[in-house]
Amino acid sequence: MTTRIIGTGSYLPENIVSNNDLSKVMDTSDEWIVSRTGIRERRLATTETTASMAIKASEKALLAANKKADEIDLIIVGTITNDYVTPSTACEIQAGISADKAVCFDINAACSGFVFALQIAHAYLQTGMYQNALVLGVETLSKLMDWNDRSTCVLFGDGAGACVVEKSDVGIYGFDLGSDGKKGVALSCENRRNNNPYVEHSKDLGYVRMEGQEVYKFAVTTVPESILKVLGKHSVDPSEITYFVLHQANVRIIQSVAKRLQVSEDKFPMNLDHCGNISAGSIPILLDEMNQKGMLKKGDKIIFSGFGGGLTWGTCLLEW
Ligand code: COA
Repeated sequence: MTTRIIGTGSYLPENIVSNNDLSKVMDTSDEWIVSRTGIRERRLATTETTASMAIKASEKALLAANKKADEIDLIIVGTITNDYVTPSTACEIQAGISADKAVCFDINAACSGFVFALQIAHAYLQTGMYQNALVLGVETLSKLMDWNDRSTCVLFGDGAGACVVEKSDVGIYGFDLGSDGKKGVALSCENRRNNNPYVEHSKDLGYVRMEGQEVYKFAVTTVPESILKVLGKHSVDPSEITYFVLHQANVRIIQSVAKRLQVSEDKFPMNLDHCGNISAGSIPILLDEMNQKGMLKKGDKIIFSGFGGGLTWGTCLLEW
């Protein structure tokens, strides 16, 4: 027995912000952003929250899976931009869709969050403890950006992606996950500081700080290694993979991974041109876009690979 994705859904905020729009509020240009990243526009939440986007994506995934919310056993959300420290986004989703019997929690693995959450759901299902799960990656990254730091704020976007998974004979083959906390400083965002009466008060808020070139080097070496590891473990050749659904950080990272694996770039679908980097949301949103377009066929072998803050990385090999 394994775990299979039986429905997908996604939601993007209504507010579309192009590179030219950004160039009106900061010193940047469409040419700079497109040539270095491939990003042309992104959605930035105005009225939406992390939970409201997640609820909409969940409703679509449930409809696609032909499941009712009260049949769901488990809700796991990969996110670093929860609306509240508590309740979790997963608990907010539970309330929003009335998944009354579900056990709900969030996990933090930044841009690898969806793959980490999927592995947790898979492990639970394999024990027999639960029969199905709703797994999400959702972010409102625009609230963590320093809008005076043009080197990071232009890269990210907001949105939510969801999948319903259940026990099945075919589906997930396996995972390769990893973490390197010693390199955490390369991509970080400090939480609120201690303000108890015994420490000096500070109202500083944390913003995303990134050593872009360090993260780039990490991604182009770790991602192909991780993909080859999971393929090797299951005796699958890269040429047998129909789609490599990678975290959507940067077109140059994706091209470099394709080159290292000696696989055509056509097998690497992308939505970063209109979404930017949505951290944990990237993979499930792209997957839902592919599903909506009818690109996914029964029997296709697919790779998911996420990488980012922590540092963390996570790859999953599955059959559709
Ligand atoms: N618009 C215009 N100029 C910008 C800019 C922007 N948005 N952001 C930075 N610049 C400028 C810098 O100030 C610098 O100018 P200088 O040479 O006068 O000092 C110049 O562009 C080059 O900056 P640099 O940071 O060296 O650029 P880079 O070629 O490394 O590209 C990234 C920056 C972020 C695009 C690149 O490092 C990258 O893609 N890294 C991976 C990041 C990533 O994907 N992170 C998420 C992983 S989950």
